[in-house]
Amino acid sequence: MAAISMRNIFKRYGDGFPAVNDVSIDVADGEFMILVGPSGCGKSTLLRMIVGLEDITSGDMIIGDRRVNDLAPRDRNLAMVFQNYALYPHLTVYENIAFPLRLQGVDNATVDKKVREASKTLELDEHLDRKPGNLSGGQRQRVAMGRAIVRDADAFLFDEPLSNLDAKLRGQMRTEIARLQKKMGMTTVYVTHDQTEAMTLGHRVAVLKRGVLQQLATPRELYENPGNLFVAGFIGSPPMNFLPATLSGDKLELPFGTVTIPADRADKVASSGYGGGVLIAGVRPEHFEDATLVDASKRDGGSTFTAKVDQVEWLGNETYAYIPFTAPPEVTDQLDQLARDLDGDSMRSQLVINLDGASRVAEGDDAELWVDAGQIHLFDPASGRNLTLDEANAGTVTGLQGDAAKA
Ligand SMILES: Nc1ncnc2c1ncn2[C@@H]1O[C@H](COP(=O)(O)OP(=O)(O)O)[C@@H](O)[C@H]1O
Ligand SMILES: [Mg+2]
Repeated sequence: MAAISMRNIFKRYGDGFPAVNDVSIDVADGEFMILVGPSGCGKSTLLRMIVGLEDITSGDMIIGDRRVNDLAPRDRNLAMVFQNYALYPHLTVYENIAFPLRLQGVDNATVDKKVREASKTLELDEHLDRKPGNLSGGQRQRVAMGRAIVRDADAFLFDEPLSNLDAKLRGQMRTEIARLQKKMGMTTVYVTHDQTEAMTLGHRVAVLKRGVLQQLATPRELYENPGNLFVAGFIGSPPMNFLPATLSGDKLELPFGTVTIPADRADKVASSGYGGGVLIAGVRPEHFEDATLVDASKRDGGSTFTAKVDQVEWLGNETYAYIPFTAPPEVTDQLDQLARDLDGDSMRSQLVINLDGASRVAEGDDAELWVDAGQIHLFDPASGRNLTLDEANAGTVTGLQGDAAKA
């Protein structure tokens, strides 16, 4: 296996639009790297430039210790697993896996050894004589992977391999890919628009928006320390709430009342040159709780407030509550733009909170709620930058230059 280094990669198609705009990503040997972002953000283009199916406009693509920009796909020794698997229906599983070796004219004994090794790893040894049409989706995916494995490729590349599967199978395949990747330690670049796949599969995740890398970090870093509004809105399900807020010292004024935030967070905002205007506060649904269920010891780490609950969904183990609010135009404009960037619905008028299933909060109640104030992010509405970012635990945050250049 080999490391992959993308350095200042640009791709301009015929119309001059930069589909990939100055992206630099280092994938370590054996690492599982995810490229994620909404449709059209340049994920497939970037992957195709790694494999050699698309010319690189500028920048360096390094695989192992070779610059591969000018190498044909077959000379890059990479294995691409496509969404439709591209298996040959008339060939057995054995011959499908053996196919790349047959092309290379490898002798029968070596082919047999490699196919049997791969099919053992993939638990396909009982199916070698069957045809792809008789296999389950998961088995077919494994055959496609087997074909990649026998080639001793330097890295595996996946472009949305699970997006055609139903939810249950997708979950199974996700687990399977994670298990194989760990077992074989293969360098992997995996494209998806699905944040669940990104969070569960990736050692690190590169979040892209309109061709520009926004943040490159571990799933936990992305979740806990999103570099900007875009990453904050993209990672997490249900998504982070965005509320209008103003800060005075460590007192944060939210639509539902005043919350005291930790001094280090307030200091970060002050040192960013904040002049007292409207900020966007980002709070995840799970960082709220029914105040009556919060221990006294924990309570002091957050703030309690009272809010009128509009709607409640009780799911047994958890409860969702919805609380309407209004926001000024400088916030709603930015949130509408964010919704367009995310291909989603704007979340500018209702707070979604996730409470323990034991909560007795009911529709129409003026409920006493608690928020974990140490988990509140504050974003600059103009640039989208996270002013409360813990930079030491945020990986690489890069999107802001791209945003500034665009503005
Ligand atoms: N062959 C092409 N010619 C022109 N533009 C293209 C071509 N392929 C992709 N694009 C454009 O490049 C951008 C990125 O596309 P793509 O890499 O397919 O995005 P993703 O895989 O993230 O959905 C899009 O705006 C898309 O329209
Ligand atoms: Mg794509």
